[in-house]
Amino acid sequence: MNILFIGDIVGKPGRDALEQNIGKLKKQYQADLTIVNGENAAHGKGLTKKIYHQILDWGADIVTLGNHTWDKKEIFDFIDEATQLVRPANYPAGTPGTGLQFVKVKNKQVAVINLMGRTFMNPIDDPFQVIDDLIDEAKKKTNHIFVDFHAEATSEKQAMGWYLNGRVSAVVGTHTHIQTSDERILPDGTAYITDVGMTGPYNSILGVEKEAVIRRFKTSLPVKFDVPETENTVLSGVYVSIDDQSGIAKKVKRILINEDHLSFD
Ligand SMILES: [Fe+2]
Repeated sequence: MNILFIGDIVGKPGRDALEQNIGKLKKQYQADLTIVNGENAAHGKGLTKKIYHQILDWGADIVTLGNHTWDKKEIFDFIDEATQLVRPANYPAGTPGTGLQFVKVKNKQVAVINLMGRTFMNPIDDPFQVIDDLIDEAKKKTNHIFVDFHAEATSEKQAMGWYLNGRVSAVVGTHTHIQTSDERILPDGTAYITDVGMTGPYNSILGVEKEAVIRRFKTSLPVKFDVPETENTVLSGVYVSIDDQSGIAKKVKRILINEDHLSFD
């Protein structure tokens, strides 16, 4: 089974890059399942119903979220009915939405889990405790488990990768918007990358207008962060191939498309 994951879509440039490339990438990697992190898709912060459906219409099967999940208030109007949307699982009990969705692929169920880290991030329940119960729940149905761990610290993401080594098919990091070059298959068969990277404006700082971020660093004054309008984009993703029977990862490959890395190979 081939899984394509595309990292954090930032604003309109990110949505444009996704729309332009998702079909080609699905074909290139013969993707059976396509997952997109959409937590920055609505002007850098949050997700609207319209954009959620656009991402699905363009070819995604599941949309994952992160620390910006609640930034567009309309999310509360549709998250409970959205069967292809996953928010971080380690919010307190009773939070709208779900942190685990099953999707049927090639007559098999795949569990997609979204978790959020705690280091250098807003307080949230312990992802290491929450994941044990989620894996137990997922394993009742499938040994194909894909985890998007939305976290800041590389150490916390590596720790999650090793903690889940051999227990899930893949752990991919999101949130920092910078792709790391450490993709690998851990010894017991879990595909891992510390951060997939973002899909959005290329000449930016993490998807934000660079002038505003520089001003913030230089003055320490409050600055409005906007997503620049541009057609010069970066698309970041990862491809994971897993064994149809065991759920063990066989192959993992980074995808980076921008003016400096034009190849799909
Ligand atoms: Fe984030």
